[in-house]
Amino acid sequence: MIVESAQPDRCEDPSSKVRGGKTQVASFWSSNPCGSGLAGGLEPGTPEFFEVTEAIRYRREPFVRDFAQFEKWKGQWVLEVGCGMGADLSMFARCGARAFGLDLTYTGSSLASRRLQHLGLVPRVTVGDSERLPFRDGTFDLVYSWGVIHHTPNTDAAAMELMRVARPGGKLVVMIYNRRSLVVLQAYLMYGLFRARPLASLKEIIASHLESPGTKAYTVNEVRQLFAGLKDLRVTPVVTPYDLRLGRNRFMPSWVAALVPSNLGYFLVVEGTKPGETGSSVL
Ligand SMILES: C[S@@+](CC[C@H](N)C(=O)[O-])C[C@H]1O[C@@H](n2cnc3c(N)ncnc32)[C@H](O)[C@@H]1O
Repeated sequence: MIVESAQPDRCEDPSSKVRGGKTQVASFWSSNPCGSGLAGGLEPGTPEFFEVTEAIRYRREPFVRDFAQFEKWKGQWVLEVGCGMGADLSMFARCGARAFGLDLTYTGSSLASRRLQHLGLVPRVTVGDSERLPFRDGTFDLVYSWGVIHHTPNTDAAAMELMRVARPGGKLVVMIYNRRSLVVLQAYLMYGLFRARPLASLKEIIASHLESPGTKAYTVNEVRQLFAGLKDLRVTPVVTPYDLRLGRNRFMPSWVAALVPSNLGYFLVVEGTKPGETGSSVL
């Protein structure tokens, strides 16, 4: 086994050591674990908290299941990079995958760990950095990362790392934000045009206003370059509720998404295969 069922409470938080942007990224996600705002007043880490946040997650982002294909990975080695509170990680584990999770923050990895424990599953979760994954080359059958590597300062390094730790013939499923999306257009209108800053760059607006400091968003071609090392590379734009937002927690009805050209969707989902000999994991 590559990590000894890493328990986050025995790990040191690397966010205390990282410099510059990454410290701010870690600090943001420590204070706002992804999805925790959906829980109303529920106590973080309780079974009710996990149930409610999970239900809302898959109601808002039902397409996650189509891309992750949780059932397909039974018995296989799966790594989720940036697992946050562990909703998807626990789905892989519940479906029988040998699932490992990693997150930059102690808060995220500790909540993910507790979620798995509540479900009676072994928590294999560690604090770590997508830019320097603590795993050997060619380890995993699936490397999965949903909405993470656009937050880390060196996204190129993170993409290389995700490809490195997949086994030859192994798969990657990665979601990255789309710069040519309705969400980014809304951000430009709110923080550029309506604030009399029509010349503000999209990159600056995204870095300052979309979640953690320094967030980036990519075009389909840029994403293709990031993952040029993969074969059968597919980049699928997905229209999300966030593209159809009317207010903080108010969205247009989901059928409206079908009327929006898919290439304007906020999520770009990358799927590809690491080249090389196929076969089972080296573990
Ligand atoms: C938008 S949340 C997504 C969480 C989870 N994948 C989900 O879909 O709910 C982004 C997550 O990426 C993590 N993250 C950001 N930079 C990271 C890095 N360099 N290495 C590992 N995780 C990182 C954050 O701590 C946070 O939990």
